[in-house]
Amino acid sequence: MEGPARTIAVIGGSGTLGAPLVAELRARGREVRVLSRRSAEYPVDLTTGAGLGAALDGCEVVVDASNNSSARGAKATLVDGTQRLLEAAGVAGVGHLVSISIVGCERAPMGYYKVKTEQERLVSESAVPWSIVRATQFHELVAWAFGAVARFGVLPLPRARLQTVAAAEVAHAVADVAEREPLRRRLEVAGPEVLELRELARTWRTGTARRARAARRRAHERAPRRAWDDHVRGLDRARSPASLISTVHQVRNGRHGSAIARNCSSDGGASRP
Ligand SMILES: NC(=O)c1ccc[n+]([C@@H]2O[C@H](COP(=O)([O-])OP(=O)(O)OC[C@H]3O[C@@H](n4cnc5c(N)ncnc54)[C@H](OP(=O)(O)O)[C@@H]3O)[C@@H](O)[C@H]2O)c1
Repeated sequence: MEGPARTIAVIGGSGTLGAPLVAELRARGREVRVLSRRSAEYPVDLTTGAGLGAALDGCEVVVDASNNSSARGAKATLVDGTQRLLEAAGVAGVGHLVSISIVGCERAPMGYYKVKTEQERLVSESAVPWSIVRATQFHELVAWAFGAVARFGVLPLPRARLQTVAAAEVAHAVADVAEREPLRRRLEVAGPEVLELRELARTWRTGTARRARAARRRAHERAPRRAWDDHVRGLDRARSPASLISTVHQVRNGRHGSAIARNCSSDGGASRP
């Protein structure tokens, strides 16, 4: 997007990704509107469509960084909400919708990922010019999950490899996309290194000085479930450990490590993170 600032609406502009995105766009001199249910300026609710028309009026670009990962709310916000958003964007004459998704969501057989895949389909089949930015899990999410389960005195560590990325790095990539012409395809953003969950946990423990031992199998089965339920209720979302994880990575690697962005096809054929 060249020339004078054009108004960019960020739905979910108060969230983990949305907040650094709004800051990044404003630092670049863009006119930004923060839309969310609790926004003082532009309250909108994707589950009902309330406020969308007025909030999008005059916006050239819309970034949808909203989220709801609960079993009950995900579809209403991310699928039905996207349908409402696309209709409102069409009426408002929005020239570019940037939607946020997850690397490999079409390969995960869980409800939330199915919802994200459906959200991608709606956006990619829309008449509104679009781009989709897919990211791997944020450091912030992993830090939150460790913090939540550590309250049980254990860190359940199933064998898993993650390529987590800082939300701020994703925000930078999303801002780049929002400033350009619609891609009409997906772009993937991943963290700089693939790590075992155990390594991430070690880093988290070092950074937070929290004491939690590796859990035995039975504790594994209980703790994550409770933690997930808490997440669903939006309780106790600890964000500060994330910056500690980033900092420890930075120190260990001599750099924070830039996120890696790559293109992938519009049919979702993304390579594994
Ligand atoms: N977290 C990760 O690790 C990760 C990884 C890859 C991709 N992503 C994707 O990144 C996007 C943002 O995720 P996030 O983790 O940054 O989300 P988040 O921290 O949970 O923030 C969600 C935002 O959406 C707003 N919101 C929720 N329901 C809404 C509704 N009905 N209408 C309007 N606004 C609503 C919230 O504000 P109010 O409460 O004020 O409405 C908040 O600003 C999502 O598409 C997610 O799938 C996330």
